[in-house]
Amino acid sequence: MEDSLVKVVSIVGARPQLVKLAPIAAAFAASDVRHMIIHTGQHYDADLSDVFFDGLGIPDPDVHLGIGSGSHGVQTGRTLAALDPVLEAEHPDWVLVYGDTNSTLAGTLSAVKQHIRVAHLEAGLRSFNRRMPEEHNRVLTDHAADLLLAPTEEAMRHLAAEGLAARAELVGDVMVDICLRIRDAVLAGAHPRPALPPGIDADAPYLVATLHRAENTDDPKHLHSLVDALTDLPVPVALLAHPRLLARAEEHGVKLARGAVSVGRPLPYAQMVGAVLGSVGVVTDSGGLQKEAYLLARPCTTLRTETEWPETLVDGWNHLVPRPGDLGATEWTGLATRPAPTAERATPYGDGRAAERVVRTLEGK
Ligand code: UD1
Repeated sequence: MEDSLVKVVSIVGARPQLVKLAPIAAAFAASDVRHMIIHTGQHYDADLSDVFFDGLGIPDPDVHLGIGSGSHGVQTGRTLAALDPVLEAEHPDWVLVYGDTNSTLAGTLSAVKQHIRVAHLEAGLRSFNRRMPEEHNRVLTDHAADLLLAPTEEAMRHLAAEGLAARAELVGDVMVDICLRIRDAVLAGAHPRPALPPGIDADAPYLVATLHRAENTDDPKHLHSLVDALTDLPVPVALLAHPRLLARAEEHGVKLARGAVSVGRPLPYAQMVGAVLGSVGVVTDSGGLQKEAYLLARPCTTLRTETEWPETLVDGWNHLVPRPGDLGATEWTGLATRPAPTAERATPYGDGRAAERVVRTLEGK
């Protein structure tokens, strides 16, 4: 009686969503739920998409919309228009959307307009920075969705403050599920060593850096000073460059590979975990990488004014640096190159079994 089974459609499109999809797809595969994957095509470079499907054992998408890049309105609008007929034909019990990208918002809008229930994974995160495209996407998605799957107590508090407590469930963070599983495999020697940029010696101290947010890449002056600060650091920096960073740097005439900085391609997930484990610290504006650094016990320096993951700031495991000039500040040994704190880390992100909880919650509703 296939038709009596619960049917869930996951909508993904950008790299961080594929990381979250991996443990979810595995948990659905071990359940009676019928799970289908729609890839919007927001990310289309192999480095940002295919390597995650292959490397994390995610089944191929059932539908690929091939949307590609564009302004926020164009990208979101095209995705919405392309999703309508697919969701109408599939008519699942639930649409599951992930995180805070334009694909998340488009998936939510298409589903709610067709009276299909929406579950939002990673609900309740807030930066309270209303200039961030991700903040618009999160707030709008949470208010439209029927079920809010929150990763942390802090996220639950944000949802309650916005009158959304009745729809919220604390499930934990699925990124713990995948990050710790891959860490154990990397430590057991199951993956090749990461392909670090030329010029980085994997056996000597180095920092892992990533930079891709619009707030950091799109203003030429700000991008210049961020890159200058990275190049001045006293430790080699492996800058794993997102295509957006390469495009903006080229446009604004900012040379990336100089001084301490060596530039490489984005890494597949297991290689990224290996690169962080081999490093003395991380410098980033990514949300996911801040948390991965925390889970892997490497100090993180975050090139932003705020974070959606404030738990990482406790005891100095993560440090916010809004002003590029402060990156190498000498109050300790320099922010980015400070040693790892000695404090024990708490487990605010859960026990690594969040994906199972997500599946059980959807089955039970
Ligand atoms: C998107 C998400 C962001 C997430 C990030 C992870 C939104 C609003 N932002 O940002 O929350 O942290 O993904 O990477 O949804 N590009 C390529 N190849 C690709 C994809 C993008 O070259 O496969 C380049 C294009 O120049 C494009 C630019 O990157 O215009 C930005 O891509 P876009 O999908 O708009 O957002 P991201 O910056 O990747």
